[in-house]
Amino acid sequence: MSKPSLTPSPDSPELAALVSHAAQAREWRLTELFQQDASRASRFTLEAAGLCLDYAKNHLNHQTLELLTNFAQMRGVAQLRDAMFRGDRINVSEQRSVLHTALRLPPEAHLNVDGEELVGEIQHELARMALFAERVRQGDWKGYSGKVITDVVNIGIGGSDLGPMMTVAALRTYAHPRLRFHFLSNVDGHATVATLANLDPASTLFIVASKSFTTQETMLNAHAARRWFLQHAKEKDLAAHFVAVSTNTSAVTEFGIAAENMFPFRDWVGGRFSIWSSIGLSLLIAIGTDHFRAFLSGAHAMDAHFQHAPLNANMPVILALIAFWYREFFETSSQLIAPYHEDLRHFPAYLQQLDMESNGKRVTRNGEPVSMKTSPVIWGSAGTNNQHAYFQMLHQGTDLIPVDFIVALTATHDLPDQHRALLANCFAQAEALMNGVQDPSLPPHRIFPGNRPSNMLLMEKLTPATLGALIALYEHKTFVLGVLWNINSFDQWGVELGKTLALRILAELDGSAMAYPHDSSTAALIARARSLTTR
Ligand code: F6P
Repeated sequence: MSKPSLTPSPDSPELAALVSHAAQAREWRLTELFQQDASRASRFTLEAAGLCLDYAKNHLNHQTLELLTNFAQMRGVAQLRDAMFRGDRINVSEQRSVLHTALRLPPEAHLNVDGEELVGEIQHELARMALFAERVRQGDWKGYSGKVITDVVNIGIGGSDLGPMMTVAALRTYAHPRLRFHFLSNVDGHATVATLANLDPASTLFIVASKSFTTQETMLNAHAARRWFLQHAKEKDLAAHFVAVSTNTSAVTEFGIAAENMFPFRDWVGGRFSIWSSIGLSLLIAIGTDHFRAFLSGAHAMDAHFQHAPLNANMPVILALIAFWYREFFETSSQLIAPYHEDLRHFPAYLQQLDMESNGKRVTRNGEPVSMKTSPVIWGSAGTNNQHAYFQMLHQGTDLIPVDFIVALTATHDLPDQHRALLANCFAQAEALMNGVQDPSLPPHRIFPGNRPSNMLLMEKLTPATLGALIALYEHKTFVLGVLWNINSFDQWGVELGKTLALRILAELDGSAMAYPHDSSTAALIARARSLTTR
């Protein structure tokens, strides 16, 4: 098999072709592209794994896609994709495999990595989690006083929080009616106190979720929850109320959680790709085993599409190529994610970590400076609230901001008039961004330049399976973008410096360490904080 070219010269013929094509494409008007081709909508619509992507409202034609696909081929997208699914150590800076896709393989599948058969172990852990989750759901798992569990608190941050929080909200209508879910992530004690304030310790289950089990925020919150619990109960009662999800068995044991109450996962699952692992325990408790398996199957269906569809008809690849196109050739610096589904309101925040922690990098896989612009700012919130807040800027501001609209054609409620209004607003925004209003008889402030691109992602209904497919779609889009930029999307060294300095400053704030030579601004801030906190 030919090796992917990991360091193509910036003046590779594929890139040069894109540069000259982009000079023309920037002059195109989207409305004219539609006039020129009656079949444009169907030509630029793709279906996969229960999702439909209409990407016709973009500054591209067939030649654009061909040139972008050539570039993707030259970068080795297909080879690196296959290497990822195979379990090669493509996370080069940490020498790790990247195998979140293995977690959603069907039980009868096989995957042998370095002589180890993984699917059996994955299914064994899933069965353990499912057994526990069903006991909680059915009320068989009792608290220290014999009460059933009514509240589940996931304590974790980053990938150990955003995945569980986003998915539990997204699948709210599938959740067990007795159970309430809470997500404690911030080290800010205001959040801790507010979360604990309304809980009954006798019917609360804490899931301490941390891949490393050393993350400062999670450990401080877990210890605060433990202290709060012990004000009401005894040490021996902890076992019924605290479980852990981690790769770090010794740290979990040290915290006081027994091995039988720990749900492990492996280091080849990255934090922001971990919802499919035991990090998904709160989701599994919420929706139950069958729905959780459907969630995994939906993601697997997208994996199969990503693995087998040709690059020019491959949904994650197309999304990545479009994102790359705008970032490199239209000077866009952000991308808006607009779910027109209230239950997907946390999806933009989830994608912020997925995309920006993965691709916010400045050196290549080989350590050389990246010659292109990498991850744009990912932002967004649920429609239609966004229309009454910042959409003004999308329509008439000076920046070009590509939008991904995400919408379900049917609702899980019985207010059909409201659902029709939601759909109408979603489609209208995409149309308005593209068409604009250029009537010369209008005053300038009434003019909309239009020509602003968007993708429309449709699903029939938001279900465990379509949610699984949606997340997997964006995971693979993120991966492909990383390959196009020739960066390692699976490490996150950029978060380390702040963590180290925070520990140093913490020691200064509590007076346990000597002052470190800070700049005068930071030194003054520390002194000001100390003057209040030491009183
Ligand atoms: O912020 C860095 C990070 O390592 C994320 O990648 C991760 O999701 C988060 O912290 C939480 O880490 P852990 O699960 O080890 O507590």
